Amino acid sequence: MRKKIVAGNWKMNKTFDDAYELVEKIADEMEHLATPSVDVVVCPPYPFLEMCGDLSQESFFAVGAQDVSAHESGAYTGEVAAPMLASMGIDYCIVGHSERRAYHNESNEEIADKVKQLLANDIRPIFCCGEKLPEREAGTQFKVVEKQISESLFGLTADEFGDVVIAYEPVWAIGTGKTATPQQAQEMHAFIRSLIAKQYGSHVADNATLLYGGSCNAKNAKELFANPDVDGGLIGGASLKADDFLTIVQSF
Ligand code: PGA
Repeated sequence: MRKKIVAGNWKMNKTFDDAYELVEKIADEMEHLATPSVDVVVCPPYPFLEMCGDLSQESFFAVGAQDVSAHESGAYTGEVAAPMLASMGIDYCIVGHSERRAYHNESNEEIADKVKQLLANDIRPIFCCGEKLPEREAGTQFKVVEKQISESLFGLTADEFGDVVIAYEPVWAIGTGKTATPQQAQEMHAFIRSLIAKQYGSHVADNATLLYGGSCNAKNAKELFANPDVDGGLIGGASLKADDFLTIVQSF
C-alpha cells in the first residue's frame, strides 16, 4: 500500500525561538495522535534542521530540507549538498518548488541533478510540479506537468523512482488562498499516475505517493485527501501553526 504523507514547507519563516516553539508543539501533540498510517514531515529552513531533528527523535515525524545543491561538494558558496543533509540524518528534501523555479531560474535538468544527488544519499525527494495560471487558462496544464516530470524524473530507474514523492502544486494556488477544487486535484493526480504507469508499469504507479499543494488548509484538507489519487499534502502557510498543521495530518 502506498504511503500517505503530510509535509510542512515552512519556506523562509520563523526565527530560532519561534521555530522551536512550533516544532516542540508538533512533537508534543504527535505523541497523542493516532495517525500511524500517515508520515509527517517538517521542512524548516536549513539553520533549524538540527534542532528539528533533535526534537523529532522521540516523536513520530521526519525532517526534510527545502532545497539541495545539484553538486556534490566544492566551490558553491551558500549552497548545501546532499551528503551534508544525509550526515545530519535528514530523510526528505523538497526539490523544484515553483518559488525556486521562478526566483532562481531552476530548469528541469538542474532539478533532475538535484534529485539524483538526493537519491544517491538516501534522501527522499519531494519533487514539485505544477502549471501557472496562464497555462491552465490555455488548457496546457497536462502538457506542462508532463514535461516537468518526464524531463526531471523519467531518467531514473524504476527502483530509484520508487523513492520519489511527487507534489502537484498549481502555481496559481500557492499562497493565494485559491485552492484547486478536489476535482481539479484528482484529475491531475490521476493523469500523473497514468504517466508513471506508462513509464514504469502499474505496480510502480500504484505505489507512488502523490501530494497536493497550494492553499491546502485545515478546512479543505479532508475534501482534497478524500480523492483516490491524492495521498496527502505539501502544506505552506497552514504548516506554520501547529493546530492547523495537526488538523491537516488527521484529515484522512
Ligand atoms: P501554501 O504553499 O500552502 O502556502 O499555498 C504550499 C507550497 O508552496 O508548498
